[in-house]
Amino acid sequence: MKPLETVGYVTTRDGHDLTLYHRDDDYQIRLNGLELMTSRAHGSEEAMGVLAREAIPHVPVPRVLIGGLGMGFTLRAALDAFDGAEIVVAEVFPEVVTWNRGPLAHLAGHPLDDPRVHVEETDVTHLLEKESFDAILLDVDNGPTAFTLESNGDLYTAAGIEHLAAALTPGGALVVWSTDEAPNFERRLHNAGLEVRREDVPACGRDGGPLHTLYLAKLAVIGETSCT
Ligand SMILES: C[S@@+](CC[C@H](N)C(=O)[O-])C[C@H]1O[C@@H](n2cnc3c(N)ncnc32)[C@H](O)[C@@H]1O
Repeated sequence: MKPLETVGYVTTRDGHDLTLYHRDDDYQIRLNGLELMTSRAHGSEEAMGVLAREAIPHVPVPRVLIGGLGMGFTLRAALDAFDGAEIVVAEVFPEVVTWNRGPLAHLAGHPLDDPRVHVEETDVTHLLEKESFDAILLDVDNGPTAFTLESNGDLYTAAGIEHLAAALTPGGALVVWSTDEAPNFERRLHNAGLEVRREDVPACGRDGGPLHTLYLAKLAVIGETSCT
């Protein structure tokens, strides 16, 4: 097998080693040697965009937050799923954004060039504190129990879920990516009063592959009445 070629390398502000590798058609981003994202499998990342669109049919021009950028597959899926939309991407590592404007740009069809996209080089939690979104697509970790940054763990606690829910507009939807099932997280979503659905999605889309888990959590529309 050909050796991996290093395309980019940086030590982040927090002292992490962030590296972009390339071999044949495959690109990999690794943080401290652990894979953060690969271009080999992106079916479940793309499914996030479709799921979010289906979840908020009542919003014609939604405001969508994507946390983190990775290789742009979720962003591309969201652009394709939402005709008109304002899409904000929060990416904590500026180098990932730079790589997505350079060697990675072609992978998801140059999504950062789309005028509907606005990128914030920041921790996604900062945007949750000050802005509202009709949909939040969260894929910053390997799931609610395996974190890219230690501080990301807070996102999946009861308090973190409360912050996520508070950043949603009424009827808004949260989609969270996970390598596999996270029953404790699912229970916390329920406990927060959200309507929750779990979807197991093949990593390679129509080509199958291992299953990844997506959690769709919806906020009730204020004033919604039921007549049973
Ligand atoms: C698994 S990748 C996302 C893959 C992406 N869904 C795609 O389609 O390629 C995780 C991304 O989240 C970023 N990230 C990690 N923690 C973050 C945070 N707290 N805020 C914003 N971005 C974060 C990482 O740098 C990385 O780019």
